[in-house]
Amino acid sequence: MNSPNATASGQFTLSDRPVTRLGFGAMQLTGKGVWGEPKDREEALRVLKRLPELGVNFIDTADSYGPYVAEDLIAEALHPYNDIFVATKGGLTRTGPEEWLPVGRPEYLRQCVLMSLRRLKVEQLDLWQLHRIDPKVPQDEQFGAIADFLKEGLIARAGLSQVSVQEIEAARKVFPVTTVQNRYNLIDQADEAVLDYCDRQGIGFIPWFPLASGDLAKPGQMVDAIAKAHGASAGQVALAWVLKRSPNMLPIPGTSQVSHLEENVAAAQIELSDEEFQQLDKAAYSVSSA
Ligand SMILES: NC(=O)c1ccc[n+]([C@@H]2O[C@H](COP(=O)([O-])OP(=O)(O)OC[C@H]3O[C@@H](n4cnc5c(N)ncnc54)[C@H](OP(=O)(O)O)[C@@H]3O)[C@@H](O)[C@H]2O)c1
Repeated sequence: MNSPNATASGQFTLSDRPVTRLGFGAMQLTGKGVWGEPKDREEALRVLKRLPELGVNFIDTADSYGPYVAEDLIAEALHPYNDIFVATKGGLTRTGPEEWLPVGRPEYLRQCVLMSLRRLKVEQLDLWQLHRIDPKVPQDEQFGAIADFLKEGLIARAGLSQVSVQEIEAARKVFPVTTVQNRYNLIDQADEAVLDYCDRQGIGFIPWFPLASGDLAKPGQMVDAIAKAHGASAGQVALAWVLKRSPNMLPIPGTSQVSHLEENVAAAQIELSDEEFQQLDKAAYSVSSA
């Protein structure tokens, strides 16, 4: 195989900015429970510095990763970014390891945006996503705050995370939705309707946990068989499947290790045939409906 390069995954344009579809998620660059500093800080910085060399120019992060640790590391490794597009998120508070509580009051969301600007050392965020809609705050107050951030130029684009089609439509009445970030992978296609809606509407769909292939990676199962046929790993096949599923898909596999990053990026060069794609889909369906 050629040296890994994400550009083989093609591009998707986020309003007016084209990015390479295979991106990077920064959540793994923190401590256990997405809390505190990573075990190996130098390796985390090496992972980030390797991204542009591998053709990756789309990074997803959040203020709540660490909290703050991932954004700080990104700025340390990559500021002033050149053509790297950094998407961040806000609206989730952290009360401890593995604890994530939404707070959608407009004044808190504004603080999230202003603090992400400071940490990432930019005048405007490329993309800011509401990490979760807070069920305790009227939706339109949260969406209205986002519309204000766009109008004021604090953020260039806005997105949502873990939302339904109905919620996206409600948000689009208040501000243009550039991306939707929901959990989606080969073995969890529960948000198929959201993906299809985004595809039809030209909204970027960012599937998180994209490497999952579960039991299908076990010896003799479909992911394992197709991986062997391509001389690839199960994770690479899962990523190649996600990339083939839709042209508006922007997967953001995350890792704390350079060797894993290189392996993930190499998935951009794996071309599944239509038949392999269908076989994987069918196998995934039979597992999820078993
Ligand atoms: N919007 C949301 O609510 C939400 C929720 C979760 C995540 N996210 C975003 O989505 C991104 C990806 O999601 P994710 O981190 O949950 O899942 P993922 O990227 O599918 O998987 C990450 C896990 O796989 C391991 N891994 C990565 N590459 C590997 C390789 N080549 N070989 C073996 N193991 C490998 C990582 O450990 P190592 O570090 O050891 O490689 C880590 O344990 C996150 O970074 C974050 O930006 C968003």
